[in-house]
Formats: sequence, C-alpha cells, structure tokens
Amino acid sequence: MLAIDENLRLTAWEIDLQFKDNPSNYGWISILLHWLTACIVLTLWFIADSASILDTQQEQRQQISLHISIAVIAYLFLWLRIGWRIKSGHPRLDNQSDLDHKVAKLAHALLLLAMAVLLLTGPLVVWSGGHEIEVFG
Ligand code: HEM
Repeated sequence: MLAIDENLRLTAWEIDLQFKDNPSNYGWISILLHWLTACIVLTLWFIADSASILDTQQEQRQQISLHISIAVIAYLFLWLRIGWRIKSGHPRLDNQSDLDHKVAKLAHALLLLAMAVLLLTGPLVVWSGGHEIEVFG
C-alpha cells in the first residue's frame, strides 16, 4: 500500500482555507482578484488619462476607444470582484485594532464604490453622446 507522509496530508477544510478568506486572512482568490483588478484599473486609467496629451482628435478618439474595449472585456470580471468582496466580508488581521479595521473597511468600500460608479457612468457617457459601445470596432 502507498505510504502517505502525515505532514503532507491536507484536509479539505485546510485546502479550502488557502483559497478562500478566513476570519483573519485573505485567501488566494482574493489576492489574485486584487492584483488583477489593480492591473486592469491602472491600465484603464492610464489609457484614458493619457488621451489628453495626444495631438489629434482622431488619435484621442482611438485611445478612448481602446479604453472602452478593455473596459467592456473586463466589465463582468470587475462586477464579480465587487460581489466577491461583499460576499466574503473583510478579514480582520491579527493584532489589528478596532479603529484600523474600521478605517481599512471604509477605505476598501470607498474604492469599490468608486469602481462601481465608473462602471455605471462610463457606458452612460458613451450613450449620452449618441454612440454605441463597440469592442475594437
Ligand atoms: C474601472 C473602470 C474604469 C476606469 C478606472 C476608468 C477610468 C477613466 C479615466 C481616468 C478617464 C479619463 C477622464 C478624464 O481625464 O477626463 C475615463 C474616461 C472615459 N471612460 Fe472610463 N473608466 C472605467 C470604465 C469605463 C467604462 C466601462 C466605459 C464605457 C464602456 C468607459 C468609458 C469612458 C469614456 C467614453 C471616457 C471619455 C470621457 C470623456 O469624453 O471625457 N470607462 N475613464
């Protein structure tokens, strides 16, 4: 019979804890979502913000069009990201004071709210200009 090293044996509960948040720590799913979101938001911000330094209107339009295409592709993911945090709550790290935890929760919630506002107002800006939302159109 195959001998299994006791130290290597992980229960389903332990594996679960590594992926999902636990009351005092963020799990791998949250960590991955966090960094993917950071990359997407910074990319979107950089592309849109740098449109203003381009010389011609056509170049600016192309830049915003790239911004919209990436935003649309990431759209569902970003909403899922918000939903995941609402569902998972906010782990309280070891030794974190009440005040620190409340401030961290508030800052986190405000960032997610800002992202939700951008996701709602972005399409409205396009539609209110009488345009359709196109992905690499
Ligand atoms: C988290 C997601 C998003 C971020 C971080 C973001 C960020 C930005 C930023 C920084 C600007 C430049 C604002 C300025 O300097 O005037 C901008 C402009 C713009 N964004 Fe987004 N955006 C997001 C989502 C979206 C979505 C989903 C759409 C539409 C589908 C969209 C459409 C636009 C348009 C059309 C503009 C140009 C507005 C104008 O004409 O001044 N954005 N965005």
